[in-house]
Amino acid sequence: MNEQQPEMEKLVNEISVCTKCQLHLSRKKAVPGEGNIKTRILFIGEGPGLNENETGRPFVGQAGNFLNELLGVAGLKRQDVFITNVVKCRPPANRDPMPEELSACAGYLDRQIALIDPLIIVTLGRFSMARYFPLKRISAIHGQGHWVNGKMIVPMFHPAAAPAFCMIFPFCRNTCRQRKIS
Ligand code: URA
Ligand code: SF4
Repeated sequence: MNEQQPEMEKLVNEISVCTKCQLHLSRKKAVPGEGNIKTRILFIGEGPGLNENETGRPFVGQAGNFLNELLGVAGLKRQDVFITNVVKCRPPANRDPMPEELSACAGYLDRQIALIDPLIIVTLGRFSMARYFPLKRISAIHGQGHWVNGKMIVPMFHPAAAPAFCMIFPFCRNTCRQRKIS
């Protein structure tokens, strides 16, 4: 066991019983995130959907399958990276997270980032991008890495927006062609 593990377990326990915002009222399972805490690459999505709320695991629905596939094309497995979200509980009917929910939950993600200390952070969708580039539009900067405080931040379209996502990374174009989505 490495030294980060107990702190991550503490975080997971805190998140699982958290009542800091209204999303706790409708959640089934909180979704703290999962993966390799020694990784250099952290993926940050938006928030749990239906399947994530049932299982307590991030990106296990359709968007998750696509994310797995793209990781595979890049030569990565889920166990090689860490995957989490800006809010840890499902917004009802998959609505956008509200500003007060994002700010209530931000401390958990801050602690995860401090603990994992990744070199590369891939933001999936506009809500995680906004942590680093609040004034930018995702369509303007998707796929372009920028150094922010010693970390390479790579904003990407959310995998649920698959066709657009496919255009930005040359490595996944073949996958996209096979799937006939670009
Ligand atoms: N699943 C997640 O865990 N996060 C998302 O943003 C979408 C699906
Ligand atoms: Fe707590 Fe975050 Fe869940 Fe809100 S979304 S209840 S802040 S863990």
